[in-house]
Amino acid sequence: MSGVHADIGRKRQREIYVAGVGGHRPAVPVAQAELEKAAQAAMSPEAWAYVAGGAGRESTMDANRAALDKWRIVPRVLRDVEQRDLSIELFGQRLPSPLLLSPIGVLEMVHREADLAVAKAAAALGVPYIFSNQASVPMETCAAAMGGSPRWFQLYWSRSNELVASLVKRAEACGCSAIVLTLDTTMLGWRPRDLDLGSLPFMAGQGIAQYTSDPVFLREVGASLDDARGPDARARAASSAAPTEDIKPPLNLQTIATALAQKANYPGGLMKNLASGDARAAVQRFMTTYSRPSLQWDDLKFLRQHTKLPVLLKGVLHPADAKKAAELGMNGLIVSNHGGRQIDGEIASLDALPAVAEAVNGKMPVLFDSGVRGGADVFKALALGATAVCLGRPYVYGLAVAGQRGVEEVIGNVLAEFDLTLGLAGCTRAAGVGRDTLAKP
Ligand SMILES: Cc1cc2nc3c(=O)[nH]c(=O)nc-3n(C[C@H](O)[C@H](O)[C@H](O)COP(=O)(O)O)c2cc1C
Repeated sequence: MSGVHADIGRKRQREIYVAGVGGHRPAVPVAQAELEKAAQAAMSPEAWAYVAGGAGRESTMDANRAALDKWRIVPRVLRDVEQRDLSIELFGQRLPSPLLLSPIGVLEMVHREADLAVAKAAAALGVPYIFSNQASVPMETCAAAMGGSPRWFQLYWSRSNELVASLVKRAEACGCSAIVLTLDTTMLGWRPRDLDLGSLPFMAGQGIAQYTSDPVFLREVGASLDDARGPDARARAASSAAPTEDIKPPLNLQTIATALAQKANYPGGLMKNLASGDARAAVQRFMTTYSRPSLQWDDLKFLRQHTKLPVLLKGVLHPADAKKAAELGMNGLIVSNHGGRQIDGEIASLDALPAVAEAVNGKMPVLFDSGVRGGADVFKALALGATAVCLGRPYVYGLAVAGQRGVEEVIGNVLAEFDLTLGLAGCTRAAGVGRDTLAKP
């Protein structure tokens, strides 16, 4: 049986329908289109653009959905599906279901409690939460709110290897059981919705809490402040490995408001940081060092040397890259196109999954995300070779509408639909869903 998620489908239905007798409705809409509408209404235009937007004409986002829709489930009958087991095993840990939460940055744009609300919701349901490198709440704070519930850490490889090592060490110390290295964001994709609003949250000091809580990053910021003040400042800036920010915003009320936001978002808050240049220096340091486009396969050795935790590569879509990752001793993959936010016209994540799973040939788990909107999508991804599936934007929409409760309901709805789909398709084990359950008409 599936432990905490045993019979979650019928339980969730009953809970909703019984509450409905008393006139109560769920805290967040169950239907995906309604959930998105409610989330948009609850979010600022900038937050909505950041979360819902994608790269270019957003054709990759459409392709993610189309790829999931084109596969159809072919149910089998008369197979005794009374007892269903949703659990799976991953890196020696038994998880109650094949669902995890994708790392999603800058959640403070969406809700005041941001990552903390998500961490609590994930823990309430026993679903692993992958902390984002671009979180709004330091990983230690989220971990402390999760008890023994599983969490992983997602890493962006910055220009400072010392910072990379520090983030990994902190992740280990706060109980993360895997490191996810995201490889598809060595540069930010071309995102028209954000560009049209001239809005990038990091500029206001949002989404950099993992950095401003890191001793190595803070030391590096201090050193850059000293450099900027020192006698040879100009020469040092010119020889620095990181590019310098040479474009200055116009000086007007909006610029001042952004400067104040930087100070307010920096540890200690607005009043403490009013007279200091630390917040601005942190944002500048972040902007010039947060990613390293020169990253290569050889660099993975460094990560391998710095952690004993399983390392998964996120954003692998080519079977040759999958094979190479296995050869180099990586422990898992996440097939993902970052929800269509990076390259317009990219292969749909689900279309890449079967070939990647085949290339890896069972040597390591292959996880999947990008386009998952309900339990039937989870089922299809498992059938096409995924070991587990990560949920992205939908939980953010739940967060926008109803905070922690909203995230819990969204996760619960996806699991409930998955449980029912599993049984209705004639299957009793999440770990046993095979390709023969699907057809492509
Ligand atoms: C607003 C937003 C922020 C994201 N931030 C991160 C991040 O910090 N790190 C990361 O690896 N992926 C990030 N992603 C990608 C997600 O982890 C995941 O791959 C994607 O959301 C899957 O697509 P879907 O939400 O459309 O299903 C982000 C996605 C969104 C929508």
